Parts: sequence; structure tokens; C-alpha cells
Amino acid sequence: MAQRILVLHGPNLNLLGTREPQVYGRRTLAQIDAGLVELGTRLGVTIETFHSNHEGVLIDRIQSARTDGTEFVVINAGAYTHTSVAIRDALSGVALPCVEVHLSNVHQREAFRHHSYLSDIAVGVICGLGEFGYEAAVRFAAGR
Ligand code: DQA
Repeated sequence: MAQRILVLHGPNLNLLGTREPQVYGRRTLAQIDAGLVELGTRLGVTIETFHSNHEGVLIDRIQSARTDGTEFVVINAGAYTHTSVAIRDALSGVALPCVEVHLSNVHQREAFRHHSYLSDIAVGVICGLGEFGYEAAVRFAAGR
């Protein structure tokens, strides 16, 4: 079982709550993170959450995960999902299992959101389930 799970949020996810609520819901990132930490307590695992709008900062955090005891990564890379070979390489480089999460169903949206640089290196992909996607990913990681 993964005892230590890192949940990463990419660009613009700090705007959750007010950002296109019809697409992303009305809960703030702080509320989502608090719910995940509480879920971790109930499941007996440690959840760390981390947000950055900056690609390099996300990459630095992924690299640190190699040596800080992280056993599983849950990542919503936001728009970097569709653009970032560098985040993909960081995840491959640390060789930690990960699940890719999206709040919205990216496949119902613009064509540029249909491709992900992360999906084929992820254990699984969850999209379109809103914030429950994070919970499902954490439960999966905790039980793995
Ligand atoms: C998103 C989907 C992405 O296409 C978008 O750029 C985001 C959020 C989601 O959670 O649905 O920022 O990752």
C-alpha cells in the first residue's frame, strides 16, 4: 500500500471556485485539498498537496518526490497536460506510479484537450468526475 501520496495541481487550478464553475465546480482548491488530507487520515495514509502555476516548479517538486518518501503521485497538470513533454519526462524520470486526474471530461471539450502527454505513462486516467476524481485516485493509490 502507498503510505505517502503526493497530489499535484497545475496552472489555474488555484482559481477553482470562481473559474468557469459550470465546468470545474464551485469548490475551491483549498476545500478540495482539505478533503483529501482528511480522506488520507481516514485511510491511514499521508497526503501532501502542492500547487504551482509554473512548469519548472512542478518539475522540481516531482524530482524531489524521488527521495522524499513519496510512493504515488496523483496529478492534474491542467493545461500542461496537453503541452508539457518536460512534466512527462519528470514523471518518467522519478519512476513513481501516477494517476492523471481532470475535473472536466476533456474528451467532450476542444480537440486540443484530447491529447495528453501523461496518459500513456500513467497507471490510469480519471476525467469528468469533478473533484470525486481526486478521491477515487487517492483511494486507488492507498489500496495499491
Ligand atoms: C483540466 C483540463 C485541462 O484541459 C485544463 O487546461 C485545466 C483543467 C481539468 O481538470 O479538467 O486547467 O485539467
